[in-house]
Amino acid sequence: MSSRLTVAVLGTGIMGAPMARNLLRAGFPVHVWNRSREKAEALAGDGAVVAGSPAEATGDADVVLTMLADTDAVVASVDRALDGPRVWVQASTVGLAGTERCAAIAAANGVDFVDAPVLGTRQPAEDGKLTVLASGPDDRREELGPLFDAVGARTMWLGEAGAGTRLKLVANAWIATLVEGLAETFVLAEGIGVRPQSFLEAISGGLMDSGYAHLKGKAMIERAFDPAFPLRLAAKDLRLIEEARREQDLELPLLTAVAERFAEGVERGNGELDFSATYLTGASS
Ligand SMILES: NC(=O)c1ccc[n+]([C@@H]2O[C@H](COP(=O)([O-])OP(=O)(O)OC[C@H]3O[C@@H](n4cnc5c(N)ncnc54)[C@H](OP(=O)(O)O)[C@@H]3O)[C@@H](O)[C@H]2O)c1
Repeated sequence: MSSRLTVAVLGTGIMGAPMARNLLRAGFPVHVWNRSREKAEALAGDGAVVAGSPAEATGDADVVLTMLADTDAVVASVDRALDGPRVWVQASTVGLAGTERCAAIAAANGVDFVDAPVLGTRQPAEDGKLTVLASGPDDRREELGPLFDAVGARTMWLGEAGAGTRLKLVANAWIATLVEGLAETFVLAEGIGVRPQSFLEAISGGLMDSGYAHLKGKAMIERAFDPAFPLRLAAKDLRLIEEARREQDLELPLLTAVAERFAEGVERGNGELDFSATYLTGASS
């Protein structure tokens, strides 16, 4: 029965842990592995079986779900861990080349590959309200439906593996420019004697408004950068967007500038803060 697929979750960080918890709540048997074991152990009380290695987690699982930092982390973790599962759901943001690399590894191991990055951050992950950007073999849609329903509010099936990652890069280009734009709007406001709060009040409820402006604006005003989406990961995503831009010979000067700005924030030691902390780069310069 599809709702009884055993799922091995590799990576129980900000996103992987709540996704595993929501799978457990929906009745899936879940095995978890994390490089730093204590983060996986935190899920034992929810009913997860904690594994000491990726291979132990995936050994008798039907599906392996990876939610790891980047391509190297994903590739290192699935190495020798694809013998058991029939399907690999790759949800980390790894970009175009990373997705091709993962698809090749899956093919070499005879495992179906589903590229399924997600939209949404810590809170939507905890609430099971992510948007899953799924792409891969059509004949896996039905059995994976309940799995995606457990972690997300919506699943978009987009075609062949790789299509999910392409849309994910597009969505992250949008939120990155929004947040950098907001940060610089605040720095301008403060520089010319306008309270950032006044700006938020001015746009509130109109066509210029954005829920994101209020969410991330509050973080900037309070300088409270508890990471929902760490700046180091946002910088990684902007590098992936830059790679895609170069590959296609596109001219995207704004995104190139945002990539540089996020990288600078990481160099300044703000990588573990939420990516709204890009504000600190402008505010302190
Ligand atoms: N946070 C968000 O808002 C968000 C939203 C959508 C998508 N994503 C994407 O989802 C993925 C996970 O994000 P997250 O926010 O959950 O990140 P996170 O909290 O930093 O978790 C990253 C995970 O990767 C593991 N890891 C890092 N390097 C590794 C390596 N070399 N070998 C094995 N494991 C390694 C970490 O293990 P340790 O615990 O041992 O460090 C941890 O389990 C990323 O690709 C991110 O871009 C994030």
